[in-house]
Amino acid sequence: MTTQDPWTVEKAAETYGIHGWSNNYFEISEVGEVTVKLPHGDTTQSIALMDIITGLHERGMGSPVLLRFRDIIAARITRIHTCFRAAMKRYHYTGTYRGVFPIKVNQQQQVIEEISRVGAGFHHGLEAGSKAELMIALAYLQDEQSLLICNGYKDEEFIDLALWGQRLGMNVVLVIEMLGELELIIKRAQLMGIKPVLGLRAKLSSRASGKWNDSGGDRSVFGLSAHDMIQVVDRLREVDMLGCLHMLHFHLGSQIPNITDIRTAVAEAARVYIDLAREGATLGILDIGGGLAVDYDGSHSNFSCSRNYGLDEYASDIIETLLPLLEDANIQHPDIVSESGRALVAHSSVLVFDILDATRFECHDAPSLDKSDKNLPQSLVDLYDVYTELSPRRLQEFYNDALYYRDQLRSDFNHGMVSLRQRALGEQFFWATLTRIQTELLKLDRVPEDLKEFSAQLGDIYYGNFSVFQSLPDHWAIEQVFPVMPLHRLNEEPTRLVTLSDITCDCDGVIDRFIDQHDVARSLPLHTLHPDKPYMLGVFLVGAYQETLGDLHNLFGDTNIAAVHLDEDGSLDYTNEVQGDTVADVVSYVEYEPKELAARIRVKAETAVRKKVFSASDRRTLIEAYAHSLRGYTYFEREL
Ligand SMILES: Cc1ncc(COP(=O)(O)O)c(C=O)c1O
Repeated sequence: MTTQDPWTVEKAAETYGIHGWSNNYFEISEVGEVTVKLPHGDTTQSIALMDIITGLHERGMGSPVLLRFRDIIAARITRIHTCFRAAMKRYHYTGTYRGVFPIKVNQQQQVIEEISRVGAGFHHGLEAGSKAELMIALAYLQDEQSLLICNGYKDEEFIDLALWGQRLGMNVVLVIEMLGELELIIKRAQLMGIKPVLGLRAKLSSRASGKWNDSGGDRSVFGLSAHDMIQVVDRLREVDMLGCLHMLHFHLGSQIPNITDIRTAVAEAARVYIDLAREGATLGILDIGGGLAVDYDGSHSNFSCSRNYGLDEYASDIIETLLPLLEDANIQHPDIVSESGRALVAHSSVLVFDILDATRFECHDAPSLDKSDKNLPQSLVDLYDVYTELSPRRLQEFYNDALYYRDQLRSDFNHGMVSLRQRALGEQFFWATLTRIQTELLKLDRVPEDLKEFSAQLGDIYYGNFSVFQSLPDHWAIEQVFPVMPLHRLNEEPTRLVTLSDITCDCDGVIDRFIDQHDVARSLPLHTLHPDKPYMLGVFLVGAYQETLGDLHNLFGDTNIAAVHLDEDGSLDYTNEVQGDTVADVVSYVEYEPKELAARIRVKAETAVRKKVFSASDRRTLIEAYAHSLRGYTYFEREL
């Protein structure tokens, strides 16, 4: 990893691709620390994440911790409105832009409260996909002009709640997603004597590339086909409610990397919109759903974890696609609603954790083997020969041989022909061979194709104080990559190539795919660990979908959360510290009663006292320790 040029923070920025993915909200300071740049009045202020962590430690909150920056959410809402307004002005588009935030993307109270607060200034509303989300939206939306869009399966209660919202003076749109919902909506609206505001979710034939492309196309689970839509129009006309149909909606899928797919879908939706208007629907709103992607790897490409467009281009291309079609059909320009979720909140949260330990595989000093010993197993001798005779010109061949004889040695061990001590020696020769190959590879301009993933095999494993399943479920479930980097020491060259393991006892509890400009990297450059000095890493862009999708694997619970905000005087304000789950919390989620667990321990300890295995004071110490641990954090705890 070491090169001749001196290491600089600019090189660190390049190594971790921070300029590509950070949207300028994060950068590296001259002293080599990651800073967050928060808007403050007309300027911005940079704060080192390590200073925030120190402040939290002083307040008694340790890692892992999720840092949440509400100022970034506010900046993102402002930005999406600015981009759409600019595009509409540029093309003389006469409709307006109205966003809604889909609650499913981040349902946490702090987030929804901030979106409702900032959103009020822009009439930015909420989208609810379930009864619970609707109930949050009804309670939290402040601004009466903001839309509350109701998607998802709807029972009678859901529909009634939405209609009550309308009676409260809120701007509620009931979206018909399934044909079966229509009669129930008509019935409930008639019963309550309300003219509902209705939307239609169209099933477009356009499909996008990316991980969520099943949300679009003929076989998508939600939405109405052309035939269904015509049936809805006819039925609404029949009951004199066609005038209630105000909105056409579609959702192509989340994280759409390619702008061409968005343009194609918008054009198809425009055709549907125009024909619904010609059928006599009043309309007025076109809801283009979610899909606005986040450039997780900073490659600005159509890779599934990236996007080949920016927010300006997204807004411009949508307006530019719609305009000629609407003009040709002589249809009034509708208001545009987007249900952008991840693009508004991904940047606002960072998962911070410390590294607990490391395993190294490389070996620079394998012992020599006395080959005169006639009792040596052949596989051990062969491994030793590969190690000592390695030729830089035949790296691939020597690598294959090392793998072959290592497997042979293991097989001989399993058959009782090799002792544990001999196996240990052979493994040292194996790792020493790989270490030499690695040294030779670093001298090459071009690494042979088959050896491209070699470094990851020899890389260290660093153990992080977090759970992939709880905090980064998309990394585990759908191979999403997130930017990961150290929060400090960035003015020092990272000399280790690493994969990260979490502290669950699961082989899937790893981060072994990292962002890369051209592909997905299999290891991450990190620094050597210093004993007794914490080494802190951040996983960025985790504000969308990760929190509620996370699960309790191995009973690691919610992490601590700290919301950080800049006060008007520019000072840092720690708002809304939320302690992560305690052990008592997580065991109760899986139906244990903490008091009953403690009672069982008391009984066991009493039996031990009676059997004279324990003293009475041992019993007391155990009971106190058990009670203390029930109140404690589920993650590795350090003295703060
Ligand atoms: C109906 C609907 N709207 C909006 C979204 C949010 O999408 P995104 O986070 O990509 O903006 C989703 C999520 O897939 C969705 O299902």
